[in-house]
Amino acid sequence: MKLWRGGRLATLAGDSGWGLIDDGALLVEDGLLRWVGPAAELPAEAAAAEVIELGGALVTPGFVDCHTHLVYGGSRANEFEQRLLGASYADIAKAGGGIRSTVAATRAASEAELLASASKRAQALMREGVTTLEVKSGYGLEAATEARMLRVARKLGRLGVDVRTTYLAAHALPPEFADADDYIAAVCLWLPDLHGQGLVDAVDAFCEHIAFSPAQVSRVFDAAQRLGLPVKLHAEQLSDQGGAQLAAGYRALSCDHLEFLSPAGVRALGEAGTVAVLLPGAFYALRETQLPPIAALRQAGVPIAIATDHNPGSSPTLSPLLMLNMACVLFRLTPEEALRGLTVNGARALGLADRGRLVAGQRADFCIWDSEHPRELAACFGHNPLKERVWQGSHQGE
Ligand code: NIG
Ligand code: FE
Repeated sequence: MKLWRGGRLATLAGDSGWGLIDDGALLVEDGLLRWVGPAAELPAEAAAAEVIELGGALVTPGFVDCHTHLVYGGSRANEFEQRLLGASYADIAKAGGGIRSTVAATRAASEAELLASASKRAQALMREGVTTLEVKSGYGLEAATEARMLRVARKLGRLGVDVRTTYLAAHALPPEFADADDYIAAVCLWLPDLHGQGLVDAVDAFCEHIAFSPAQVSRVFDAAQRLGLPVKLHAEQLSDQGGAQLAAGYRALSCDHLEFLSPAGVRALGEAGTVAVLLPGAFYALRETQLPPIAALRQAGVPIAIATDHNPGSSPTLSPLLMLNMACVLFRLTPEEALRGLTVNGARALGLADRGRLVAGQRADFCIWDSEHPRELAACFGHNPLKERVWQGSHQGE
């Protein structure tokens, strides 16, 4: 048993508020939080624990980055330059760049190369407090490379972070297919085998005019449903396709991006209990001006998560802390909403109820910060005050 004591805990225990406990203590056993509360009220059993003094430091739940495309080959910094010269993300995609350019580089990369580059990225996220990480496939677009990406994603778990994998073969049309419907048939065909290999925790798709239609996405979701896999969707990023309503009909865990989400889409998410995952990094990098409908999401009681969406094109960031700041400055989330978005609601977007808060019974995944108040984590940017990351009850060094 271990006891961390003498810190300010931002527990996020209730449905709102920081749940602050000053001079708080966390009792940890078998990788779980056994007891959390004011140090003055510690239970007698704590006497036997190894003590770690927090010295007044701030403690928050570990970060859950619920949307990343962390495994890939190559770089797309050239597209950054093209966009600065006036090309749009959709223009570049239609000209054969964008996702397809990363597909070519990923197909050409070995498993060892993909693991080496993705490990560095995962470690960068971990240095800013990430304890659970989602990783999508979707740069293979052929069975063997999709499998390679997912195997690499699983292996990232050895670094000391929990990894959830998502099958995103319905991300773009690969060059060897002329017909999107034929490709969707292949996407559905590959899934059972990948799932049988234990490589898939959820299924995602890109529903957009430059990607797949709601009818095509529903075929992928039917294939997921047949295997009992939960679904998520890249929805209404560049236009309103009604993807949110479709996903809500499948009780999707989350719909992500959502800048062009309609009022009917908001209602559908609210009724289905689907999480809205907002991705301020992509909004920023694409110089988007259409804001996701935050007020309507709040009013409909839709849980809001935020994530890095790390990918080589629309969001090449490895900073969850910067996402906290951008979610507030660009989307006008409150710092508390942003922190919930990166912890408890990020976990919910992955279907995980066992993490994201500092309460007894949850996993002992937490961050110790050189900060006085959790709002500072969102207010500052370009600064990393992480002192220590605790994953499953142990300090994780590099
Ligand atoms: O979440 N929108 C689609 N997928 C990614 C971008 C992928 C890419 O550009 O490589 C996203 O923004
Ligand atoms: Fe994405």
